[in-house]
Amino acid sequence: MIRLGINVDHVATLRNARGEHYPDPVRAAELALEHGADGITAHLREDRRHIRDEDVRRLRALSAPLNFEMAVTDEMVDMACALRPHACCLVPERREELTTEGGLDVIGLRDSLAPRVARLRDAGIRVSLFIDPEPEVIRTAAALGVPVIELHTGSYALGREGELERLHEAARIAAECGLELHAGHGLTYENVSPITRLPGLRELNIGHFLISEAVFVGLGASVRKMKDLLS
Ligand code: PXP
Repeated sequence: MIRLGINVDHVATLRNARGEHYPDPVRAAELALEHGADGITAHLREDRRHIRDEDVRRLRALSAPLNFEMAVTDEMVDMACALRPHACCLVPERREELTTEGGLDVIGLRDSLAPRVARLRDAGIRVSLFIDPEPEVIRTAAALGVPVIELHTGSYALGREGELERLHEAARIAAECGLELHAGHGLTYENVSPITRLPGLRELNIGHFLISEAVFVGLGASVRKMKDLLS
């Protein structure tokens, strides 16, 4: 069975849009776990545009595994070593981007990644690298000694030709290198099925679509409750 990690960043985006204390990403995480999610993912960005430090601490206190997404910086490595989440997924981060565009440049960043991966591993954290489905990048990730890679499915989700085949080849190489395989980004009810057939896939991390879909499956009940209060 493929594990499902729910990314609650966009609950925090909605909260921050009004500077309110709701909706609470931790309440969303608890609800997701009650309904079968296997873990929670949250990305603490340098600019704290959605998830904040306090959210991460509260998510860590839940009983489910926390997959802490973070940039490759000393600030984040220090934080992760203090927090000791179940897993850390290292992602590229640029202030001006709307979301994580593309995978980590593992080859270019190899020298700065190596000591940081080692620190996280020594702190007992399972490290994963969020990467594009490129054979050389996967082999470099394996050489860095991480146990897990998460393949960026964003180009596949946008319908780029040949992307599913690239993901299959990447999955094959990951297995050859002994890496546990995760995937995520841009996945929806419509496009997820072919991804579930990637050989060896163990985990998917999905956020934006599920939080968006929750508006439609939940709005009816929230309006009904307000009407009840008004009557
Ligand atoms: N995995 C990683 C590493 C991510 O950075 C993201 C998006 O922040 C996701 C999964 C989830 O992507 P989406 O929100 O498009 O489902």
